[in-house]
Amino acid sequence: AQRVTVPQLVSFKGERKIAALTAYIAPIARLLDEAVDMLLVGDSTAMVGYAMPDTLSITVEMMSAHAAAVVRATEHACVIVDMPFGSYQQSPAQAFANAASILAGSGASGVKLEGGLPLAETTRFLVDRGIPVLAHVGLMPQYRNTMGGFKAQGMTDAAARRILEDAQAHAQAGAFGVVLEGISEPLGREITAALSIPTIGIGASPACDGQILVTEDILGLSGDRIPKFAQRFGDAAQVIRQAAQDYAQSVREETFPTLAHCFGVRAKQ
Ligand code: KIV
Ligand code: NA
Repeated sequence: AQRVTVPQLVSFKGERKIAALTAYIAPIARLLDEAVDMLLVGDSTAMVGYAMPDTLSITVEMMSAHAAAVVRATEHACVIVDMPFGSYQQSPAQAFANAASILAGSGASGVKLEGGLPLAETTRFLVDRGIPVLAHVGLMPQYRNTMGGFKAQGMTDAAARRILEDAQAHAQAGAFGVVLEGISEPLGREITAALSIPTIGIGASPACDGQILVTEDILGLSGDRIPKFAQRFGDAAQVIRQAAQDYAQSVREETFPTLAHCFGVRAKQ
């Protein structure tokens, strides 16, 4: 079994859709590995895994630890890691140092960074020095304070043109793909047609070259409300809740554990 490489992901454009999901921990990564082409160790773990209000407080050390767990637990999917807020925006040199540390510490294949045209210079700096970059434009959760919240982007012609230019700038800078999050559907379609690298949509367009969702959203593990762009494909919550109830009941009724679960059990006297 050979792990999917970044150049292979690029070659899928126009041939077959890229299926991607997020993974933060080994047990989930292990179960997703065969099904998808790419696993993203997303900074969404700040909100999904740590119950933080946004993604701004996750650190390089935390992302590295999650990335290492996902790489160790998988052998098929290409593993890409989110650069956390504040670890790459200051300068290309800062971005390279932190991206190199994340890749060296985890064995992942590339990094994702959020940002428009001003960050294309950083993409170029990393790619030229051996670090594959997946750009992320449109709704960029790390920019919630400048965007004024989490809302769909590119709804006017002028705003749409700027996002197209953001995506084109990263493509020209050598990004291997672009995540399009929370943008108008026609814009997702237009960017996908305009770029020679794959677009990976989340709340973008069915026309994108690939799709990504937060795994907990498709499993029913992220609470009652899921984003408009997500869909539940399974009910892991019910399975886990039932197992916990059955276990607790067995303990209270003293049907678990039995001597079969114990060490050094003496033969009947
Ligand atoms: O952090 C994340 O999970 C992401 C994807 C949803 C694109 O950035
Ligand atoms: Na992210």
